[in-house]
Amino acid sequence: MDALDEIKQFLACETPDSWIQAALQNQEIMLIDHAHCEKKAASTAMNLMFRYVERVDLLNKMSRLAREELIHFEQVLAIMENRGIVYDHMSPARYAGGMRQHVRTSEPGRLIDLLIIGAFIEARSCERFAKLAPFLDDELAKFYRSLLKSEGRHYQDYLGLAEDYAGEPIDERVAFFREAERELIENPDDEFRFHSGKPTFIAA
Ligand SMILES: [Fe+2]
Ligand SMILES: [Fe+2]
Repeated sequence: MDALDEIKQFLACETPDSWIQAALQNQEIMLIDHAHCEKKAASTAMNLMFRYVERVDLLNKMSRLAREELIHFEQVLAIMENRGIVYDHMSPARYAGGMRQHVRTSEPGRLIDLLIIGAFIEARSCERFAKLAPFLDDELAKFYRSLLKSEGRHYQDYLGLAEDYAGEPIDERVAFFREAERELIENPDDEFRFHSGKPTFIAA
């Protein structure tokens, strides 16, 4: 089984076709939001490094991950610049907040939940890059395919850390977030973002 198949099995649902359609019609917003997502991914990894200083494995994995996300950020910016797209503030998708509202407040539950959520965000990004690529122009398709590999590894890093630090099976917690994630992806959403749900503005 290749990494993408594993990721598709990890997720409860595939990205709806109507989201792909919305993405193709909103490529500027997609790229601007994508740039924000890469920057946020780096920032989330660094927040974990500040909070959990005693966990050496986490420090190493998150440090590398943050550097890779910042490189992705620079790559998106370069593509935007080529296309004359101006980087600007953008309200975030409901997605990450919708997942984080379920994070437990006591440790180590908090850490385990944040790592599981990290795995879902990486897995969903990976699935979307793969599903979008065949419909994109050559430059963007090539870029999105190149991201698959690192985002796939990020998914594994997050999940592996969650399993190592939990010290007990995390299947139930993963299943809980799998369902929360499915709802965010499949429920109607009137805003288009890289991690938005089923677009209400496109006929299914
Ligand atoms: Fe990335
Ligand atoms: Fe990533």
